[in-house]
Amino acid sequence: MSSHFQLFPERASTVAGHVDALFAFLTGVSVFFTLLIFGLIIFFAVKYRRRSPDEVGTPTTSVALETAWTVIPFGIMLVMFVWGASLYFTLYRVPAGAMEIQVVGKQWMWKFQHLGGQREINELHVPTGRAVKLVMASQDVIHSFYVPAFRVKADVIPGTYRTIWFEATRPGTYHLFCAEYCGLQHAGMIGRVVVMEPQQYQAWLDGSSAAGGAETSPVAAGHKLFLDLGCHTCHRLDQQGIGPMLTNLFGKEIQLQNGQTVMADEDYIRESIVDPLAKVAAGFQPLMPSFQDRVDEEQLMQLITYIKSLGTQQAQAVTALPPQGGAKASGLAEAWQGATTTMPAPPQRRETQP
Ligand code: CUA
Repeated sequence: MSSHFQLFPERASTVAGHVDALFAFLTGVSVFFTLLIFGLIIFFAVKYRRRSPDEVGTPTTSVALETAWTVIPFGIMLVMFVWGASLYFTLYRVPAGAMEIQVVGKQWMWKFQHLGGQREINELHVPTGRAVKLVMASQDVIHSFYVPAFRVKADVIPGTYRTIWFEATRPGTYHLFCAEYCGLQHAGMIGRVVVMEPQQYQAWLDGSSAAGGAETSPVAAGHKLFLDLGCHTCHRLDQQGIGPMLTNLFGKEIQLQNGQTVMADEDYIRESIVDPLAKVAAGFQPLMPSFQDRVDEEQLMQLITYIKSLGTQQAQAVTALPPQGGAKASGLAEAWQGATTTMPAPPQRRETQP
């Protein structure tokens, strides 16, 4: 990080240049018209000033002029709209095949888990040249994930998942902020994103795994939870369970009892775990109890990752990763555990709307 004064943060992602170009265009248009309008006001005030006390103005009309100052701004606004909307879709639509990392925001830290099981707090290692998808949840209140150098920012809201992506272009260390006031130590909810060349990143992943081994991958942890919570007694693999079979479920359209359909995405599976009666699949009884108070956000993510791994239309992203991994056995794992256990109980989460 250079320490000299900078008007703009560094550009370290594939979209940063596009965001800056749009910003420059909006600023340029605003400055141009501000100067034009104020200049004309002053010019006309001088040119057409009253020269004698009894002077009466003569109205003038010009259809050509009025048409011009209507059509030209309209055209400029349309450029802004189309440009802005297309960039928005680029920014918030995750490209296929992106590498997934799970993020939980809580008062007052950012917790990350790679699909190999490696965990980090307030520090995120990513490779260059690869789209990274962040699946983000909040354990307590609204936070906002913000990396200025990547030009990505998204609110992380309790009770739902937020997904963003970026592709880092330059190795380096970049600021990570929480950009939503979230309590007393909001200002301390900061961290850094470490961008590495792919080989170095792989070495870092391997090193993190080798050093630990205690931590399991989210898929394995989710599988264990699935068994511990008894999910497998109803969601059997042979179509004979009293709950829907979960194999090849993720990414499919699900027929509901009420005749509607819903996409089986992260949010739907999450809702089905914490509020199972909200959207009951067609052909099944509304029997499942809520697991709202029995799993936290990280465990929810692990369960969902496991369900995704049971064969999905987006299977490559999950199954291409090593099945087992581990986090550093260094202080980090303990810090992680400590952080988990010493956290005050989160405020009652918002109930799902009726
Ligand atoms: Cu989290 Cu501010």
